Amino acid sequence: MPVLASIKKQFVKEKPFSGMTIGMALHVEAKTANLVTTLAAGGAEVHITGCNPLSTQDDVAAALNKVKGVNCYAKRACTVDEYYAAIDSVLDASPSITIDDGMDLIHYLHTKRRDLLKNIIGGCEETTTGIHRLRAMSAEGKLKFPVIAVNDTPMKRYFDNVHGTGESALTSIMITTNTLIAGKYVVVAGYGFCGRGLARKAHGLGAKVVVTEIDSRRALEAHMDGFHVMPMDKAAEIGDIFITTTGNTAVISARHFKRLKDGAILSNAGHFNVEIDMDYLAENADKVIQREGIETFILKGKRIHVLAEGRLVNLATPKGMGHPIEVMDLSFALQALCARYIAKNGKKLRGGVYDVPHDIDEQVARLKLASLNLSIDTMTKEQKDYLCSWDIGT
Ligand SMILES: NC(=O)c1ccc[n+]([C@@H]2O[C@H](COP(=O)([O-])OP(=O)(O)OC[C@H]3O[C@@H](n4cnc5c(N)ncnc54)[C@H](O)[C@@H]3O)[C@@H](O)[C@H]2O)c1
Repeated sequence: MPVLASIKKQFVKEKPFSGMTIGMALHVEAKTANLVTTLAAGGAEVHITGCNPLSTQDDVAAALNKVKGVNCYAKRACTVDEYYAAIDSVLDASPSITIDDGMDLIHYLHTKRRDLLKNIIGGCEETTTGIHRLRAMSAEGKLKFPVIAVNDTPMKRYFDNVHGTGESALTSIMITTNTLIAGKYVVVAGYGFCGRGLARKAHGLGAKVVVTEIDSRRALEAHMDGFHVMPMDKAAEIGDIFITTTGNTAVISARHFKRLKDGAILSNAGHFNVEIDMDYLAENADKVIQREGIETFILKGKRIHVLAEGRLVNLATPKGMGHPIEVMDLSFALQALCARYIAKNGKKLRGGVYDVPHDIDEQVARLKLASLNLSIDTMTKEQKDYLCSWDIGT
């Protein structure tokens, strides 16, 4: 992770978090550990737990607990009670900065540990679903400190959501099922940043890609990008492999299950495990656990295979590794620099959701290009003037 490494070097000199405690709820895996040690190198005491009961890598959690100034409370396959107890432990350390992936830490803080709100300078949020929740909270005037929407900046969305989710979700599906993508109907629900990456990469592997959407512009975009567009009712009948990535709920539900082909594979790449109606399957189908990472449900004589209990397929299957390291180098470089920005400026900002400062986004792009030994052109004065003028004639 060369970009994060160069930021770590700066942090070692500057110690931007000296005397501060950072509370985190992120997927605890190897790349995240690099972010944690970068923040610790910047002088922070770090307390971290997971943001999904199935995504923690226990060896990484154990290694983090050996780092000076770092405490990790995450455990793979924890119960819901253990999950929230671990969030509570992070908050017991009374952090002044939060870093969330999905907003569970901020939610808990505002609902169960309001006494600690006064200590918080600000936070950062990693994913689309977390930003949705933060904006809803902010619109109701309930968000009590500034939070940077790391997810929404180009250097995050264009790489992490598109390429990271695209590659890692398909990799995880292939490793877990040993199924061939080529020639299959792959149904991608949601043609947002993640969905675009998934659709393109599944197409690249030879799949016949079907997209379902609720937004007419994105549906049209998918159509013109060359994919089949149809409602889930219809897609359910032809799909071999399904990947939901909408951030919405009940995208594949009772009426769709009944239409599925025998042997359909269902997976979710959206943040929460609500996109596939798992409760319906649990109540109405017989379950045969086939192998780790795959549950097979028998519904009216048909087999429906669900991966990772309907949780993030790229992280929650036993062999799910999350996004490729190059992608997380960018996302976590943004997180590190945004945390430094909050440490410096958080006290001056009101409660609400803030964009990643433009120069941080650009800095990460520059560092990444440099690490790849790529150079680009620089605008001449003439070009700069041209782009700033309106009276340019014809
Ligand atoms: N798996 C990962 O590692 C990973 C990485 C980044 C983001 N995410 C998560 O993936 C989800 C999507 O993120 P994104 O950045 O692509 O969001 P996005 O907002 O760019 O795209 C979501 C798309 O889903 C569509 N949609 C909403 N409801 C739908 C429905 N019922 N049927 C079909 N389409 C529907 C929306 O119109 C939108 O186009 C979020 O939950 C986000 O947190 C996961």
